[in-house]
Amino acid sequence: MIKIKNLYKIFNQNKKNEFIALQDINLEIKKEEIVLLKGISGSGKSTLLSIISSLQKPTSGDIIVDNEHIAKLPDLHASFFRNKKIGYVFQDFNLISSLNVYQNVMTPLIVQNLNTKQIEQKVLKALEIANIVHKKEELVSNLSGGEKQRVAIARALVCDANILLFDEPTANLDKDNSLKFLEALESFKALGKTVVIATHDSIFEQSRVISKVINMQNGKLI
Ligand SMILES: Nc1ncnc2c1ncn2[C@@H]1O[C@H](COP(=O)(O)OP(=O)(O)O)[C@@H](O)[C@H]1O
Ligand SMILES: [Mg+2]
Repeated sequence: MIKIKNLYKIFNQNKKNEFIALQDINLEIKKEEIVLLKGISGSGKSTLLSIISSLQKPTSGDIIVDNEHIAKLPDLHASFFRNKKIGYVFQDFNLISSLNVYQNVMTPLIVQNLNTKQIEQKVLKALEIANIVHKKEELVSNLSGGEKQRVAIARALVCDANILLFDEPTANLDKDNSLKFLEALESFKALGKTVVIATHDSIFEQSRVISKVINMQNGKLI
């Protein structure tokens, strides 16, 4: 469960260029919910996702993920928390283009104490769920946009995190691949994942698995 209380994110606080990116956000996302976070560009979606993942700290307020208060976690703890609990798929995928698919997907496992066989099992399982196992030896730079997204999804799944965060997952995809992403959502539902998708793409209106829509405007929920 994700619980957010009176959350603020203020960039450049008390400076001339102070900017309130998130303002008094109160929100609860239950286990296994699939939630859309909607709003035009600049409304604060990415900032909120990055705070849920503990990549960024809020200026004030509380955020509780699976009973853990993460607003003030020291960086090292935050990275352990993220590794265990969160799968994050960035808008531009953030893959390492000089590595192949398998190597990209295994990167989150490097900090875990696993042997080669255990790593292989986890990577292959994630590649299968994301439907990209047939490209496992291909360099990421040779893949299409839809394929890169599936690699990013496999990397988000490889640690078996229960919470998946997607930042504008269809923004860089054509219609066909966007529809494939909707199918992937159904498989996350079947796996019991909690999913938050930041988007302004109306294609999600076609999905049957969305349990809640949260609308953002100028850093506030509306
Ligand atoms: N590091 C930062 N410093 C200053 N302003 C920022 C920073 N990150 C984001 N912002 C601002 O916060 C607002 C919300 O950004 P963002 O969360 O990326 O919105 P969205 O993802 O909805 O497009 C934008 O106006 C953006 O310019
Ligand atoms: Mg964004």
